Parts: sequence; C-alpha cells; structure tokens
Amino acid sequence: MKNDTPRSRRKFLQQIGATGAMLGAAPLTSLAAKEKAEERILHYERKTSANDKVRLAVIGYGVQGHFDLNTALKVPGVELAAICDLYTGRLENARELHGKDLFTTINYKDILDRKDIDAVFICTTDVWHARIALDALAKGKHVYCEKPMVYKINEGYPVMEAAKKSGKVFQVGSQRVSSIGYAKAKELLAAGEIGKLNMVNAVYDRQSSIGAWQYTIPKDASALTTNWDKFIEVTEKMAFDAKKFFWWRAFKEVGTGVAGDLFIHLLSGTHFITNSLGPESIFSTGQFSYWKDGRNLPDVMSGVMQYPASKAHDPFLLTLQVNFISGTGGQEVIRLIGSEGVIEVNGNNITVKHSLMPEAPGFGGYDSLFTFSKAMQAEMQKEFEAKWTPEQRKRKTKEDIVFKAPEGYSDHLDHITNFFDAVRTGKPVVEDAEFGFRAVAPALACNESYFSKKIIQWDPVRMKLK
Ligand SMILES: NC(=O)c1ccc[n+]([C@@H]2O[C@H](COP(=O)([O-])OP(=O)(O)OC[C@H]3O[C@@H](n4cnc5c(N)ncnc54)[C@H](O)[C@@H]3O)[C@@H](O)[C@H]2O)c1
Repeated sequence: MKNDTPRSRRKFLQQIGATGAMLGAAPLTSLAAKEKAEERILHYERKTSANDKVRLAVIGYGVQGHFDLNTALKVPGVELAAICDLYTGRLENARELHGKDLFTTINYKDILDRKDIDAVFICTTDVWHARIALDALAKGKHVYCEKPMVYKINEGYPVMEAAKKSGKVFQVGSQRVSSIGYAKAKELLAAGEIGKLNMVNAVYDRQSSIGAWQYTIPKDASALTTNWDKFIEVTEKMAFDAKKFFWWRAFKEVGTGVAGDLFIHLLSGTHFITNSLGPESIFSTGQFSYWKDGRNLPDVMSGVMQYPASKAHDPFLLTLQVNFISGTGGQEVIRLIGSEGVIEVNGNNITVKHSLMPEAPGFGGYDSLFTFSKAMQAEMQKEFEAKWTPEQRKRKTKEDIVFKAPEGYSDHLDHITNFFDAVRTGKPVVEDAEFGFRAVAPALACNESYFSKKIIQWDPVRMKLK
C-alpha cells in the first residue's frame, strides 16, 4: 500500500501507455519455465472519473492520515481544505507540508461546520471513529472512515443507519477490497478453480518494534501538546500516558489490538473474496510473548471462526493469526483452501495451486491390503484392476498459475479513487458501512472472546450477537 509514491505511480501509468487502458496479459514464458507455474500480469483498467473539484479535510493526521491524504491528492480534482489533529506537532507538520495558510484545528467540529468541505477522512485513533462519523454524516459530509469502522460492536448500528439515511458516500478504509489481486481471487473461487472452499487460513505476522506498534514518541509529548482531555472524552478518565496516545493500538481503553488492527484486514479480504456475510461462531485466544511494554492487549493472537453455508458459499472454517515476534520475519497471506486446490493471496499477487484426487479410491501402498493373505491380496488386486482403468487411478494434474499486479500498482489508490468516484457519481461503494460492520463485528468479538474465554455466537444475516 505504501509504495504508491509519485514515481512508482508515474512509472505505472507509463506502462499502461497513452493509447489504451489495458495492460497485456501475455504469459511470461521465461519466468514460467523457471517457476514451473504460468505467470500472468493482471489486467488493469485505469479508472476514469470526472475531474469535478472535491474539497477534502483530514481528521487525524498521524501516520495513516498522511498516507491517505498523499494518495487522495493523486486523484484528479481533489483539493485539501483542512486538517485536524489533537497533537500540536502534527498540526505544525501539516502547515509545513501544505502551507501556513492551511486551515488547521484541534476541534473536528470546526471542519464539519464549514460549507466548503465536501468530504472528510477519519484517520483518528479507533475509539473516535463512530463519534466523528456520526457527526460528519449529520453535517452532510461524505465520509471515508479508516478501519476498523467502530471501536465497539454496538456503535455499528447507528453508524450504518446514519450512513443509509444521509444519502452520502460512506466508505471504510480497508484498501485491499479494491485490489485487482483480490478481484482475481474472487473470480477464481467463483469459477470453481479450487473446487469447494472449506477452509481459510489467514496470517499477518511481524517481527519488529514498529510492527508491534512502538512508534517514535515525540519529545514534547504531554497532556497539553496532545490535548489529552479531549482525547479521552469518548472513553474512560485516565491520567496522561504518552503510550496510550502514540501506541494506542496496544491499549483496550483506546485501541482494539491486533483484532481491530489486523484481523480486520484478513476478515475484509476474506469476506470480499468469498461474498460471505460473516461467521456464526467466534473464538479467540492470545498471549503476551515479547513486547512487555505495559500493553494490555496480546502480541500473539489467534481466532477461529465457523462460517455457515450461505447462498454464496459452502460452510468453511476461518483461522486467523497474528504473531508480532514471528521468526518468519513477517508475512501476510490469506490461503483459501478448497477440495481441489489452494488460492494464496499475497498482497496483490495471487497463486493458484491444484491438487486433484484420483477417481479411483485408494488401494495398496500404505494400506491394510498387505496384511491380508496372499490369496486375498491377489483376488482383490484383480478386481480393483478390472474396475478402474490406469487413467482413473492417477491423480489428474492441472497447471498452477501466478497472477501478479503490474509494477507500481496500488490498491490504496484504487480504493481512494473508488471513494471519490462514488462522491462524484453517486454509485455505490463495495466497502460501505454494512460491509465494514460485517468485518469489524467478528474482529471485535475476538477481543470479547479473548477476555471472556467464551465462544461468541453471531448471527451473520441479522448482524446481531446471539
Ligand atoms: N487502512 C490501513 O491499512 C491502515 C493502516 C494504518 C492505520 N489505519 C487506521 O488509521 C487510523 C489511524 O492510525 P495511525 O497509524 O495513523 O495512528 P496515529 O496514532 O499515527 O494517528 C492518529 C492521529 O489521530 C489523532 N486524533 C485522535 N483523536 C482525535 C480527535 N478526536 N480529533 C482529531 N484528531 C484525533 C491523534 O492526534 C493522532 O495524530 C486507525 O484507525 C488505524 O486503524 C489503517
């Protein structure tokens, strides 16, 4: 996501070429020979949208606020109107980057009151998402709300209702749902490429202090410079704690841990690819393995979810894993396992591997056959050979394929472009409030399960805890 620098974007647009919007899909035969799997570059259609001006404000100008804004400014016609943040150093940084005349404030309501602002990006700490989203929709703004859509499950219902009633665009910021790679995985699954889906293993591992959320804390961090009293307005009263402000993900009072930070990406991706409405039972457990820095949410966590049969899919089991001290060095992968193969989703790249059972049942080899009398073995061997042709006894093979996104491709740019397209044309977005809630509710239920040590029952159709 973070490689959509102007240079790589430019390079990518050059690759697409001035004449057409499509990139060739020719197999790269030399690589195919090396990797024993055919490799294809995914088709990519450049989005076109009218260049009508859209005036944007960013609420929460931390790390993701910067990334989201930089990407938004690559979409033609998008203009920055204002930035809001609680930490004074970030407002100073905003003026340094975007000019001293930029409207900056610590009070997001100042932004919502301005008539010249069409859309807001909510990139604050999770605990603030619902409150700001509701206030922004009430003031007639289009909303791009970072994941997780809400901090508590019961905050989701008013947000969904407000988004529906407002007639405004509401999109959640899990950019992977706009990835051409994910779209390909969805298409391959629907086409039966791996047979019937029965399991999804989704992993997001890291092995670094920053990966474990220990971001650099500025030297001037204080209750004053962070507007601490305002920060905790939507949560419990607490004494100033720089870690709770800058490493908020690790603290349940303001953050949602690995579940809200990373399970959510795996869930959004899985739901998009499978068209699923969500799981019916959720269990999660975790431990404090390495980053013993005062955090009260685990650094190693797993979730298990059972997805019931639906119109879109057969029942499947989802396992989620986040390990912040993983000797793998880190990995992000969703493996969709079916009766005839596996689709592996690695970022925007997709690998399809096949394994087909022979038509004939197993007979001989590691079997009980050799333990029978010689006469019985011979008689049964004869019968088996008469019943099944050599062809039926063999595993059928099917070519493995690797699909790669073109160089410089950015799902983040696609996701944000989709948002502005919807603002301009009124067309629906994929990751609307309902989609966002269907992903965040089971993620947050993982935290509930972890704390209560209970299996959480969820009704994925009515979107209610049971
Ligand atoms: N889509 C993605 O891949 C992705 C990646 C990273 C973060 N995120 C999401 O983006 C959000 C921000 O994450 P981050 O890494 O930028 O955190 P961060 O701590 O770097 O930034 C959050 C900022 O929000 C500000 N803030 C908090 N409450 C506020 C309020 N009431 N009004 C105005 N500003 C307020 C803080 O001052 C801080 O500067 C989170 O919800 C996170 O889950 C999404």
